[in-house]
Amino acid sequence: MSTIQLRTQIPGPKSCALAARRDAAVPRGLSHATPLYVARAQDAWIEDVDGNRFLDFAGGIGCINTGHRNPAIVSAIQSQVEQFLHTCSQVTPYENYIRLAERLNQITPGKGAKKTILLNTGAEAVENAIKIARAYTGRAGVIAFEDAFHGRTMMALALTSKTHPYKAGFAPFPSDVYRMPYAYCYRCSYQLEYPSCKMHCARQLEDTFKRVVASEDVAAVIAEPVLGEGGFVAPPPEFFRIVMEICRKHGVLFIADEVQSGFGRTGKMFASEHYGIEPDIMVTAKSLGGGLPLAAVTGRAEIMDAPGPGGLGGTFAGNPVACAAANAVLDVLEAGDLLARAETIGNRFAKRAKQWQERFELIGDVRGLGGMRAIEMVKSRETRQPAPEETRAITQYCCEHGLITITAGTYGNVVRVLVPLVITDEQMDEALDVLEGAIASVDVLKPALVTAGT
Ligand SMILES: Cc1ncc(COP(=O)(O)O)c(C=O)c1O
Repeated sequence: MSTIQLRTQIPGPKSCALAARRDAAVPRGLSHATPLYVARAQDAWIEDVDGNRFLDFAGGIGCINTGHRNPAIVSAIQSQVEQFLHTCSQVTPYENYIRLAERLNQITPGKGAKKTILLNTGAEAVENAIKIARAYTGRAGVIAFEDAFHGRTMMALALTSKTHPYKAGFAPFPSDVYRMPYAYCYRCSYQLEYPSCKMHCARQLEDTFKRVVASEDVAAVIAEPVLGEGGFVAPPPEFFRIVMEICRKHGVLFIADEVQSGFGRTGKMFASEHYGIEPDIMVTAKSLGGGLPLAAVTGRAEIMDAPGPGGLGGTFAGNPVACAAANAVLDVLEAGDLLARAETIGNRFAKRAKQWQERFELIGDVRGLGGMRAIEMVKSRETRQPAPEETRAITQYCCEHGLITITAGTYGNVVRVLVPLVITDEQMDEALDVLEGAIASVDVLKPALVTAGT
């Protein structure tokens, strides 16, 4: 039996009524990918207020790797709710915070002594990672990458690359942020090709230290092991090793932002493991909380201890209910087969997507790692001109046919897969059928969209 069940036109009347209320009550700056208002969600599906059931390829933007309302996580939350909700870890600490820190210290790459501080959101964790790196090195500079996304608070936004809609109009940003090209091979900034490029982009870090900012003024390089909002770009295997070698040589820390790529999404606990690297500091969030807001900064103990007592923290940071959820998330990921499942789901997607690539001119690139997969749409394979209108049309078709998808990419021309890893094979096929229908409908529409100049 199909999971997708559509009972009304999309959006239905109740969603439309809520949209009208939202327009009046909530600023337009908070945009939304679908016109659907949620009534409930379970595993890999979401039901809206009109009783329509959708498969969910967005997972709350990568927060639901363990599935909507995973029973083990719900039960852990319920047990904690029976005990206490909030005391503030800076006033009267509690055990499940310590346990979670110990576990994150254990499972993040690197064998030496590590420490973890908990925060609420990815952006807040990024901010704290930079504070810690600056305190440890006594240096101000931070190098981030083109197409990076690190969040919406001011320092995180300074590190984020995409101008519209994220940065435009919000300047000035914190200073001492520098940028270099990422290993986005499909759109190489140097017009080179892998592997004959010999990883020129990674080696460019040496040049950056000569031409842009002196290494002795740089605290850290921060990078996503797989670009998230930037379009699910997974660099070639040696990219991060080279970047890290150069960092080490100059006493610069390497911060891995695993907010989107962490906790099983790529088929390993962390995407850094695919690259065989041990970041000095790792930032995590999203799927860590299993649906509750929680983030972490984990790093080498001597680095993490650089800020003095009181230098780090936050009222709700490491909330006990969120810690209970996160400990259950780790139980689920450690005991179950979701990491292997991520790989299987990713391969299932990639196999279909490669077939689509042969059929549809629109699909320029098929890429990703494990269950973190995407397709990049182009108006022409030859020019690689991005196709954002067609991409929007695809996500709209998907929504109207029962599949929730979200886009990504600096040019808004990437459809990404962040499906809960508990999705069944049948549901995955059902979802991929919808996506295929969407691409087929838009490939036909393409000339009309182009002439309309939309
Ligand atoms: C890689 C990465 N870093 C940081 C963030 C910011 O996280 P949050 O939205 O929880 O502040 C995101 C959010 O999408 C992200 O993908």
